[in-house]
Amino acid sequence: MQENLKKQAAIAALPYIKNCRILGIGTGSTVNHFIDQLAPLKAQFEGAVSSSETSTEKLLSLGIPILDLNAVGTLDVYIDGADEINNNLQLVKGGGGALTREKIIAAASRRFICIADQSKLVSRLGSFPLPLEVIPMARSYVAREVIALGGRPVWRENFITDNGNIILDIHGLDILEPMKLENTLNNITGVVTNGLFAKRSADTVLLASEKSTQTLTL
Ligand code: 5RP
Repeated sequence: MQENLKKQAAIAALPYIKNCRILGIGTGSTVNHFIDQLAPLKAQFEGAVSSSETSTEKLLSLGIPILDLNAVGTLDVYIDGADEINNNLQLVKGGGGALTREKIIAAASRRFICIADQSKLVSRLGSFPLPLEVIPMARSYVAREVIALGGRPVWRENFITDNGNIILDIHGLDILEPMKLENTLNNITGVVTNGLFAKRSADTVLLASEKSTQTLTL
């Protein structure tokens, strides 16, 4: 059922890529549905900038060329999922551990279209553990700093990011000021990035429910 809704959200994103030369592509099960939809359309665009090795593999298997972000400039559109979405279209992301590359591509794109099923919409961010990508030698230090901020960091074991780093998932945060927390966490030495997409929120959220797909914008 949830898979059907993810596919429904992915299909709803197709009108947003019309006339786009290069697509920014996120990571996760919802994005996988979106990538599946691209196969018959691939002649219409040059290629994709991918946020993870997993998405890269899937795109390549469908014959969609992978492009280097440094070579293509600002992207027209970035399509990605989310773990939590609030009413300001601010997100928690990184459940799949691809948060840093996702954040880079979102920052480098004119429009960020977030695709999700309705279970991702929350009144307040923080129930989903907030991922931090951390330089391995800073793990314990960063964990202590996070505890001082009131969070409970849990080391995502047996997981190394595509950038060679580790993930700390922060539990127990009630995120009242997403923008402020995003900055605070990014200022801890050793943190590469955190999964709060508050400063660069989504521009549009396509939220699938059994009844319909809602388009949320600010
Ligand atoms: C990966 C992400 C994903 O967008 C997020 O985890 C949602 O995934 P899914 O579409 O599988 O629910 O941020 O790092």
